[in-house]
Parts: sequence; structure tokens; C-alpha cells
Amino acid sequence: DLITQINRLEELFTVPAKKLKAISDHFVDELTKGLTVEGGSIPMNPTWCMAFPDGNETGTFLALDMGGTNLRVCEITLLEEKGEFDIIQSKYKMPEELKTGTSEELWGYIADCLQQFIEYHHQEEELDELPLGFTFSYPATQDYIDHGVLQRWTKGFDIEGVEGNDVVPPFEAALAERGVPIRLTALVNDTTGTLIASAYTDTEMKIGCIFGTGCNAAYMENVGSIPKLAHMNLDPELPMAINCEWGAFDNEHQILPRTTYDIIIDKESPRPGQQSFEKMIAGLYLGEIFRLVLVDLHESLECKIFEGQDLGKLKKPYSLDAGFLSAVEEDPFENLSETEDMFRNKLGIVCNKPELELIRRLAELIGTRAARLSACGVAAICKKKGWDKAHVGADGSVFNKYPHFKQRGAQALKEILDWPAHKGKGKNDPVEILPAEDGSGVGAALIAALTLKRVQQGQ
Ligand code: BG6
Ligand code: GLC
Repeated sequence: DLITQINRLEELFTVPAKKLKAISDHFVDELTKGLTVEGGSIPMNPTWCMAFPDGNETGTFLALDMGGTNLRVCEITLLEEKGEFDIIQSKYKMPEELKTGTSEELWGYIADCLQQFIEYHHQEEELDELPLGFTFSYPATQDYIDHGVLQRWTKGFDIEGVEGNDVVPPFEAALAERGVPIRLTALVNDTTGTLIASAYTDTEMKIGCIFGTGCNAAYMENVGSIPKLAHMNLDPELPMAINCEWGAFDNEHQILPRTTYDIIIDKESPRPGQQSFEKMIAGLYLGEIFRLVLVDLHESLECKIFEGQDLGKLKKPYSLDAGFLSAVEEDPFENLSETEDMFRNKLGIVCNKPELELIRRLAELIGTRAARLSACGVAAICKKKGWDKAHVGADGSVFNKYPHFKQRGAQALKEILDWPAHKGKGKNDPVEILPAEDGSGVGAALIAALTLKRVQQGQ
């Protein structure tokens, strides 16, 4: 019966404190391994962003954000007044076909958006080349801040001919073809942008996190703790922002409590074997995990939910997104009438009361697991760096919109880091995850400004 099924799902999806601790200890080792010459599965990419802003940065910069859902172009003017800036911006939809199209189409589309933005905001003006901070939120190997070789696509992207290549030349070629007066100054990850933007207004900020379509973090390391940079003979005291790309944590499947549903998600994805951690927690996958469980329960002999109904719509992969799951969790009615309506209207499924209860509990379990596993990464960076106090700047649709994500994450951090019980829900905890400043806007602009300053100083 359904109660037995709920119990089984609870067991599958609940990650107790002891397991969280074990995961985060293993995470610390993997972070360290990623910084060594041999490396590990977490890439720990040096970003060549080598300073925090001091608030005195000035100038006008373009920022381009290619995240996954939207493409955003911003023009940011960092003002003389410490820490202040003006911003104008336009959002463009990232067409779904582009994610699996050709590389020419991708760069062409992005260059067209930039061109439109410049033509609209600078009609007829004679422009000097504007410096651009390009937030390219995928793992890239960087030998310089204005270059990056794509290691692999993540978040469902699958565009041929980009992996293994420097993404900057074809991007610049597309701009040059259109005569767009822009000079790429810094290629930035969204997590690094988030870290720098948040540190601009809060000097306690130590980690930048994205909990969105994908999941990842960046923090400031010191060069002396990055063995893979030893051959460069840099001053070991220099700071270096590391883009962890922690979505790749546990690709070896040593510790994460993967369910059969997680295994299916991985197998059916364009890059099986990659982004193991991310596939259990990021927004792109939450709805799909939920959908796979429901289809399985319908087909299982012991349970048979939605008996006799047409599951055609529910059987379509990725037909439910994290927004759907959020809405189930947010249904304010005791009788779950909003959930009932959503199932009827969107999926053509009529649910009875026990089914609605199972649906709600399942959404809670998947959302809670995501938040608790995410906390393992945050705790691991803090443990690795010996920080018993830190502010963490977080952005992304899951962090900003998914119900209870923040509280559940704070609760898990408390369990992992063994804080004594105290009042408040995450507020004033020693390690606090806070909403970030706009990383791919002001963060990318600041990184471009810091880069120009470093170049001028001949470093
Ligand atoms: C945005 C940040 O708010 O969140 C981007 O400005 C980031 O830099 C994005 O990539 C991530 O969220 P999502 O949900 O769009 O993947
Ligand atoms: C994926 C990307 C990573 C990005 C994250 C959040 O994990 O690989 O670069 O930071 O998503 O957008």
C-alpha cells in the first residue's frame, strides 16, 4: 500500500547526520586531491582571479551571462563612491535548440545579442572597445584569465566541437564578423562572480555558491596550497580563486547514497558518468527524479499509483521542472487541492487523497535531500580552510525560489559542523549562507576591473 511505499521512499531519500558527516569528510579529501598535480574528479580550476575588490574599482564594463536558462547582457559602471555601481541590462531567452546545436549557432546567437544591446544603448556613438567580463558557467581550464578550454559541457548542454577547445577565439571571431566593439577581458565562472560580487559588499564572504540549474562553488585559495601551480613559481602567499566544479564530486560512486532513479538520470544524460553530485541536487534534475519515482510506482506490482490512467504526459522525460516540485511543496491547502489541479491540468492525471499525500511527501524528500547534500560541500570547504566562521554568498533559482531550501541547508550545516543548539533559523549561525549580490553582472565587471588593474601594474 501507499504507506509502505512512503516509508520505503523515506528510507531511500533521507540522509542522516552521520552520513552527511562522512560525505563531507570525503569531500575535503577530494577538494585537496583536485588541487594536486595528479588531480581527482573535482577539477578545482584556478581562475586567475587573484584579488578581492577593495571598493575603489571604477570604470564601465560589459558583462555577459551565459548560464543555461537566460542570456543576460549588462553594462555596469563602477562609481567613485566606494562599493556603488549603476547597471543597465537586457535578458534574452536561450533557445532550447541552441543547447544541442552547432558551435557556430551558439557563438553567432550570443554575438547577435551583444550587438543588439550595443546598438540599442549606444546608437550612433563612436565607441572605444568596451571591456567584457564573460560569465561562462561551465568547467574550463584557464592558463590566463581571458581564455578557457571547455573541459566538458554540463547542465544538459551538448554542442559539438567545443569541448577540449578554447572558447574565446570562436566567440571573438563572431564578434569581429559583426564589427561589435568589445574586448573580452575576463572569462568568469558564475560561482567566482558570485564570490567577488558578494565580497564587494561583505568582507566576511568566503565562498560563492550557485544552487540553480547546476550546483557549484568557488572560494579563495592561496597559491602555496595549489600543488598543480607549483611549476609556475608564483608567490605562495598570492590569493587565487578556485572554481571547484564540485558537481563532479563522487563520480567514482564511493559515498553518495545514489538511488536507482539517480542512476537512470545519469545514464540517460548526454554525459553519463559526469556530475554525479550535481545530478542529485541541482534544479535541472529535481523534477526528473520526482517524475521517475512516480512512473516507477505506477509500474511497480506492489503499488500501482494512478491505476488505469493515461500516463502519456508524465512519461515524457524532463516534463516536470523544479518549479513544479516547488509548487507541490508550497501547496498551502490541507487537502492539497493545488497539487490535485496541477496533476489534472498539466498531466491529465486525477489523484486520490493517498496519492496526493505520497506526492507531497516525495517532493519534500527530494527537496530536502538536495539541500542537505549541498551543505556537505559548503561544510567541506570550511573544514578544509579551517574556517569556523564564514559568510557564503549563494545565488540561483533553487536557492532563491525553492521552498525551505535555505532552512534545510542551514539545519544540515549545523548537524555536520556540530554547532550547539541555538535559537534562530540559520540566522547568525557561524557559517551562514546568504543571498548573493549579482555575480554575473557586477561580479564579472569587478573581475574585469581587477584584471585590468593587474595588467596595468604589470603583474
Ligand atoms: C543567476 C546568476 O542569478 O543565477 C548567474 O546571476 C547564475 O550567474 C544563475 O548562473 C544560476 O541560476 P540558474 O537557476 O539560472 O541556473
Ligand atoms: C555547472 C557548471 C558550473 C556552474 C554550475 C552552476 O555545475 O559546470 O560551471 O558553476 O553549473 O551554474
